[in-house]
Amino acid sequence: KTNPQPVNPMNKYKTIKIEIDADGIAVCTFDRPEVRNALNEEMVDELHAFLDEAARRDDINAVIFTGAGEKAFLAGADIQELHDRSAADALRRINSTLFRWVEQFPLLTVAAIRGYALGGGLEFTMACDLRVCGEGARLGQPEVSLGIIPGAGATYRLPRLIGLGRAKELVYTGRIIGGEEALAIGLVNRVVPDDEVLEAAHGLAREVTRNGMLAIRLAKISLNAAPEIGVDAAMALESASQAILFDDDEKRRRMREFLDKRKKK
Ligand code: CAA
Repeated sequence: KTNPQPVNPMNKYKTIKIEIDADGIAVCTFDRPEVRNALNEEMVDELHAFLDEAARRDDINAVIFTGAGEKAFLAGADIQELHDRSAADALRRINSTLFRWVEQFPLLTVAAIRGYALGGGLEFTMACDLRVCGEGARLGQPEVSLGIIPGAGATYRLPRLIGLGRAKELVYTGRIIGGEEALAIGLVNRVVPDDEVLEAAHGLAREVTRNGMLAIRLAKISLNAAPEIGVDAAMALESASQAILFDDDEKRRRMREFLDKRKKK
C-alpha cells in the first residue's frame, strides 16, 4: 500500500507558488499580484526556504522565477515595510542576502519578466543567470525618487551587465525602460511577445539543461568567481573544474556518443 503524497509538497508557501515539470524545471511564481508582487519580508523568508530545499533536491535542474498576473514580475521591495525600516534593518541586508543566494544557487536560474521589474525587482533578475523579458516589460531602478539608493546589489551587478556609464544613467535618473531597450543595452538576454515570456524562459532553460548538468554547475561557479579573484586563481579554478569533469562518467558517455556517431557516418 502506498502512502498518498501531496502532488507537490513544495506548495506550502503563502507568497510564492512552486511548480516542477517533468524536465526538472521548477517555476517559482511571486504571488502577491494585488501589490504587484512587492517583495515583503515574508516572501524573502519563503524564497530562502524554497531555495534551500530546491538546492538539496536531485529532481530539479533549473528554476524559473516569474510574477503572478500580467502586470509585474516584482515591483520592488514592499514600500509599506521600507517606510518603517531603520539603519539596523538596512544592515541586516534582507534583500541583498537573498539575492546573493540566488546568484550562488547551484542550479540554473532564469528570470521570466513580464510587466514591472523595478528596484529590488530588477536587482533580483540581475542575480539570476539569464533574463527573458516581454516587449511590454518595464525595468528600472527608481530608488532615488524615493530618497534611497538601489541597496541590494545593483551598484555592483548593473555596471557588470551594462557598463558603468549606462548603470549611472539608470540609477541617477531612475528612468524606467522597455524590453527592447533592455535587450539593446545587454540588461536581458531575450525579448519576446509578452504572452510568450514563460515559454521562452522554459525554452532557454531546456537548451541549458539538456547539457551535462555538472558541467553547467561548474561553469557557473567559474564564471561567477572569475572577475573577483584574479587571472591566476581564475585559471586554476577553471582547471580544477575541468579536472572534475574529465573524470566524470557523464563526460565519457557524451564523448563516446559523439565519437560513435562519427564512426557510423
Ligand atoms: N510596495 C508596496 N506596494 C506596492 C508596490 C511596492 N513596491 N508597488 C505597487 N504596490 C501596490 C500599490 O500600493 C497598490 O496598492 P493599493 O491597490 O492598495 O493602492 C497596488 O500595488 C497597485 O499599484 P498601482 O495602483 O500603483 O498599480 P499600477 O499598475 O498603476 O502601477 C507600479 C504599478 C508602476 C509598479 C507602481 O505601483 C509603482 O511605481 N510601484 C512602486 C515601484 C517602486 O518604486 N519600486 C522600488 C521600491 S524600492 C526597492 O525595491 C529598493 C530596495 O530593494 C530597498
